[in-house]
Amino acid sequence: VIFTDSNHASIKVAEEIAALIRKKQGQNKTCVLGLATGSSPIRVYEELVRQHKEEGLSFKNVVTFNLDEYLPMEKSNIQSYHYFMHEHLFNHIDIPSENIHIPDGTLAPEAIVAYCLAYDKKIKEFGGLDFQLLGIGRTGHIGFNEPGSHYNSGTRVITLDHITRVDAAPSFLGIDNVPRKAITMGIATVRKSKRIVLLGWGQNKADILKQTIEGDITSHVPATYLQNHDNCTFVLDTGAGSEL
Ligand code: GLP
Repeated sequence: VIFTDSNHASIKVAEEIAALIRKKQGQNKTCVLGLATGSSPIRVYEELVRQHKEEGLSFKNVVTFNLDEYLPMEKSNIQSYHYFMHEHLFNHIDIPSENIHIPDGTLAPEAIVAYCLAYDKKIKEFGGLDFQLLGIGRTGHIGFNEPGSHYNSGTRVITLDHITRVDAAPSFLGIDNVPRKAITMGIATVRKSKRIVLLGWGQNKADILKQTIEGDITSHVPATYLQNHDNCTFVLDTGAGSEL
């Protein structure tokens, strides 16, 4: 779906998420959301916060699993995805803190494999993701599933692509400060979500979105793995959709 502007598109996506939360509330069920960081979802989170403050949208029945976190990364670091999520969403809504799951960037190397397996297991125990929000990196990554990621991959440690580190450099005040690794939910973890919405804004995403949507399914562009998901929508603005 191509919208004329990302603001309007973000509000529509937030409305879908809010409707899902309310529906689950009506059924006395938990709503399990997979959440993304980066600039793309910020406006969606703003609208969800507005709905909480002005329209009484409650997040008491919401459980969240974030896609990824840099490794190593302290939670209090302003570049952490932990910090980002609290700043843009969690500090402003009534979600119980025990319902929030964000990959832990502070783990000792020997603890990480078990931690990643437990992350996927926990999502499963909650009945799987009801909704997964995604952005896309210029390498075609979703979460931090960089080129080469396997279709069947679960949550794991990944080595960041050079282009991804270049794109992150400004917020780390230079590429030398950008971590080389991250923990990311896997492709299989994401694809098991019952509903997926990928956000793409701006001309600099146009080329990778053309490859993602119109190209062959390939590990070289991991986002192409979304093509054969049953219930996935790419929500773009005119810049991002300009090569289609
Ligand atoms: C990071 C995140 C991704 C995100 C991507 C794009 O790499 N790990 O989840 O989709 O950035 O970020 P932006 O939305 O700022 O373009």
